[in-house]
Amino acid sequence: MHNTKILIKGRRHLNGHVKISGAKNAALPELAAVILSQKPFTFKNVPDVDDIQVMLEALKNLGADIHTGNEEIRVRIPEIVSHLVPKKIVETSRASILMLGPLVARNGFAEVSFPGGCPIGDRKINFHLEGLSKMGADIQVNEDNITASTDGLTGIEYRFPHKTVTGTENLLMAATLATGTTILKNCALEPEIGDLIDLLIKMGAQISGKNTETLEIFGSPSLSGAEHRVIPDRIEMGTYVIAGSFEGNEISMSHVIPEHIDSLLNILVKMGVSLKVSDNGIHVRGGSGIVPAEVVTEPYPGFPTDLQAQLTTLMTQAAGNSKIHETIFNNRFQHVHELNRLGAEISIDHDTAVISGITPLTGRDICSTDLRASAALVLGGLIADGETVVSNAHQLFRGYENMPRKLKELGADIAVLGGEDE
Ligand code: EPU
Repeated sequence: MHNTKILIKGRRHLNGHVKISGAKNAALPELAAVILSQKPFTFKNVPDVDDIQVMLEALKNLGADIHTGNEEIRVRIPEIVSHLVPKKIVETSRASILMLGPLVARNGFAEVSFPGGCPIGDRKINFHLEGLSKMGADIQVNEDNITASTDGLTGIEYRFPHKTVTGTENLLMAATLATGTTILKNCALEPEIGDLIDLLIKMGAQISGKNTETLEIFGSPSLSGAEHRVIPDRIEMGTYVIAGSFEGNEISMSHVIPEHIDSLLNILVKMGVSLKVSDNGIHVRGGSGIVPAEVVTEPYPGFPTDLQAQLTTLMTQAAGNSKIHETIFNNRFQHVHELNRLGAEISIDHDTAVISGITPLTGRDICSTDLRASAALVLGGLIADGETVVSNAHQLFRGYENMPRKLKELGADIAVLGGEDE
């Protein structure tokens, strides 16, 4: 699978409609939340991507019965048969850390391997561990694994020193089964957290403060199962909005919540892209003459780090110098080297990329380093003259459902070589 390559013959205009899939980063914590209850769950709109398959495998290893089909996933863990989330299953994703809180909360003991995921910089988990420890878990960390054990978690008041998405999700889930009240301050505000709260409330959890920085959770002795439809993937939506912003392209999207990418839409309007937004649809038409912009990545509702690589590719086609300041991760410019190999002129100074446009791109063999970088390189290949081969393309399939197929339906000349069934 790791020989997967994507072959693109560039300069075909994209035109048509895309249905946006469910959000990977909502479905991941929501599947981890299944651990909190013995009862059955039904999920709809779970994207068929590799990171979700990893989470399902890890749940199976804990004792989950899983049935897929009919566009839904039914899952239940009547009994925890293993306290282990092993490296060989989860090494490519953030699944293990999301399982730590729920597993120690329900089972009193958890042993999870260090989380993997994209190599985009330091991905610390100290606030997850500090919070769980304050709740009464004894945390031990060795080279490969983290273990947590407890006779029962208790509610705490905890202020996250910095915003963390999975950190907020982890402590929130653990607190639902703790004794007493937990107050979490300076919580992240990403829509995926709101969707997780909706699921937990359906399970019987008592949580107030949704969509605010302070969450109050009244612990319960047990939780029930639930039926839940995962929200649309705002990063996939943003990626297709950017794809539609190149000259000659025109794309409409359905099954979306446009306000989740307001920060991107505001920038694109300033750059001169034509957008029509309705309650659950977006129509984008790329024109000539887009202008440069300056963008800073920030926690939600700021501009998401998960869209900066893709926007960088668009900025190569803006007349003048654009800038992107990356403030969330300290190694998230790996796409820049590869875009420059296609002919882009991008320089990096510490946390800032300066993109000089307009540069025509020419197809070459390039290599993707992480999930969102892969999408940026595919966008580069789509506008490049000639043939581009993106290697290491399994990264793309970790988080984008059927991207080559969706692009082909829009008119791209794109094929997957070597193993991955698109
Ligand atoms: N941080 C700490 N200590 C912690 C936790 C985080 O210092 O205990 C720091 C990190 O080192 C980083 C920053 O805080 O510099 C933000 O990290 P965060 O914890 O918010 O990131 P994450 O939860 O590991 C999630 C998404 C990422 C997305 C980031 C930021 C999931 C499964 N992953 O990661 O998604 O980039 O939030 O929005 O939800 C992707 O989908 O491509 C992806 C990388």
